[in-house]
Amino acid sequence: MSKTVLILPGDGIGPEIVAEAKKVLDAVNHQENLGIEYSHGKLGGASIDEYGVPLSDETLALARESDAILLGAVGGPKWDELDSAIRPEKGLLKIRSELELFANLRPAILYPQLADASTLKPEVVSGLDILIVRELTGGIYFGQPRGIRTLENGERQGYNTYVYAEHEIERIGRNAFEMARKRNKKVCSVDKANVLEATVLWREVMDRLSAEYPDVELSHMYVDNAAMQLVRAPKQFDVLVTGNMFGDILSDAAAMLTGSIGMLPSASLDKNGCGMYEPCHGSAPDIAGQGIANPLATILSVAMMLRYSLDMPAAAEQIETAVSKVLDQGLRTPDIYTDGMKKVSTSEMGDAVVAAL
Ligand code: NAD
Ligand code: IPM
Ligand code: MN
Repeated sequence: MSKTVLILPGDGIGPEIVAEAKKVLDAVNHQENLGIEYSHGKLGGASIDEYGVPLSDETLALARESDAILLGAVGGPKWDELDSAIRPEKGLLKIRSELELFANLRPAILYPQLADASTLKPEVVSGLDILIVRELTGGIYFGQPRGIRTLENGERQGYNTYVYAEHEIERIGRNAFEMARKRNKKVCSVDKANVLEATVLWREVMDRLSAEYPDVELSHMYVDNAAMQLVRAPKQFDVLVTGNMFGDILSDAAAMLTGSIGMLPSASLDKNGCGMYEPCHGSAPDIAGQGIANPLATILSVAMMLRYSLDMPAAAEQIETAVSKVLDQGLRTPDIYTDGMKKVSTSEMGDAVVAAL
């Protein structure tokens, strides 16, 4: 039975890295006869330029019909002055929300070949394999009321609302416990329960759930400490579960443990495992168009897609092994370059992964 993957290149380096990831997906598709077909759409600034909105109804319909979505990244200076309701990022938030992609898996794994590429000491990061499970369709990103209002004294005030309902906490918590069961059986729930009531409830629900997973060890940590611990001793963690905003911030920090933000893939899943796959990084306007972006986070996101949404784990492993091989060959985009290695462009890296399949 054929499977359809919707391709959304997005903005900035998005089209450059998606082209390489698609090259790799095409290659395994042909080699292994996977029967994957494609549809194509626009998201973010690219969609604003063509349709005036960051996510069109047509693209959303294509997304609903597809088995999985591959996204590059959205946003850039060209659209930064637009009203927040029609910015590129709104399109991304809308597709996540409309498809109920509440579970965002962000694995931070250090390839041993990149131990020197991290800004942290090799002994701090070597062997690192942690998973950040970020809630993606709730919290302060979506809470109402929100906006900018004018106070009686004429001054303007910006406001957002940090909200979590029990069912939202429970479903992401379950996801984290289930993932931990397949790993090292530890969940650290990250909150700010010393200050924010929404996270007092978060902690309570995690404790309640924990009774159903006696084989998994649950601990709690405040987010400020978690940020520090991630840099001090990241290997103490197995699975970290947290809300939308904390997860966004902590995963960028965790990216640097792996050598570069250009190495961190992600899966955003609904309750049935349908999902969108994208690198954790953004559209990197500062390097867009130069052919130097690291495509590996996007290529590794394709591997996650094959594993989680397309039920093709062997093909996923094939890609991950190929990535490891090109790193063995010493090939490095500038973001992960260290002395003695061979500097390659975005497309040379993609070609090398295809050749290593
Ligand atoms: P960014 O992740 O785009 O870039 C941060 C830094 O990391 C930059 O110096 C960039 O050059 C570098 N970088 C990122 N990806 C890289 C890669 N693959 N290879 C090499 N270097 C890489 O974050 P930012 O600069 O804060 O945001 C830029 C734009 O991207 C904004 O419009 C933001 O809203 C958007 N954004 C989108 C997503 C997404 O689509 N999921 C995620 C984050 C940011
Ligand atoms: C990410 C990005 C997005 C987020 C933005 C662009 C809306 O930073 O995917 O990590 O905050 O979720
Ligand atoms: Mn982010």
